[in-house]
Amino acid sequence: MSAQKQAAVKRITPPDIRARKSGEPLVCLTAYDAPTAALLDEHCDLLLVGDSVGMVVHGLPNTIPVTLDMMILHGQAVMRGSNRALVCVDMPFSTYEASKEQAFENASRVLRETGCQAIKVESGVFIADTIRYLAERAIPVIGHVGLRPQAALAEGGFKAKGRDDASRRRVIEEAVAADEAGAFAIVIEGVAEDLAAEITAQVKAPTIGIGASAKCDGQILVTQDMLGLFDWTPRFVKRYADLKSAMSDGVKAYAEDVRARRFPGPDEVYAPKKR
Ligand code: KIV
Repeated sequence: MSAQKQAAVKRITPPDIRARKSGEPLVCLTAYDAPTAALLDEHCDLLLVGDSVGMVVHGLPNTIPVTLDMMILHGQAVMRGSNRALVCVDMPFSTYEASKEQAFENASRVLRETGCQAIKVESGVFIADTIRYLAERAIPVIGHVGLRPQAALAEGGFKAKGRDDASRRRVIEEAVAADEAGAFAIVIEGVAEDLAAEITAQVKAPTIGIGASAKCDGQILVTQDMLGLFDWTPRFVKRYADLKSAMSDGVKAYAEDVRARRFPGPDEVYAPKKR
């Protein structure tokens, strides 16, 4: 789609998302490429270009090696493929934590070079000042509390949060800090239902849960997980399709046809030029 045409279509905006607090649940999924974004667009309110792209698409063990350039490339593709859903691009590890100025520089680059509507930061309490700095400078920010995948190295893996009193208090503090700093929505990952309910009741921004129960104001999943592309998924994922079997069956049939010289058949070859 041309840039002019894209500009003419009305996308869902950060204020639209914010207005959905306690309303119709927000439907969100991850997207990393144009054709998938085109397929998801009519069904979703928000498409997240998650830094999970590193693991889901690039085969990395975690999200730490994901770069800003990778996020921008995938963000551009998702913007090209969609025209209705709000597109939010994740700020990857080490591109926003050093200072508010670093965050502003890199977040504005993401907005400028992709045309997306928002960025997301994994938000420990220490990031609240940065969220405020960005929000005051007209950069729409989504926070991300609870299980923060970018902390996986420091924490020794992907661990559910809020399982004891201290951890519970910390997740609430993170969410309240992001809310008061001006995040227009907050992703809550990997917490028990009662904690998700308590946070959702306490913050003004809509909460978007992943492994955080139906008590949130919306839900998000990694698209490839919910479509069944992988053998293993976290327990909170429900599989809505079996993409792995469908792709494997298709590839097997193709390989058999090629080996048996059934493909290409008469329908798949160019006819000789008529003389
Ligand atoms: O990177 C990502 O895909 C995410 C979602 C899982 C919320 O942050």
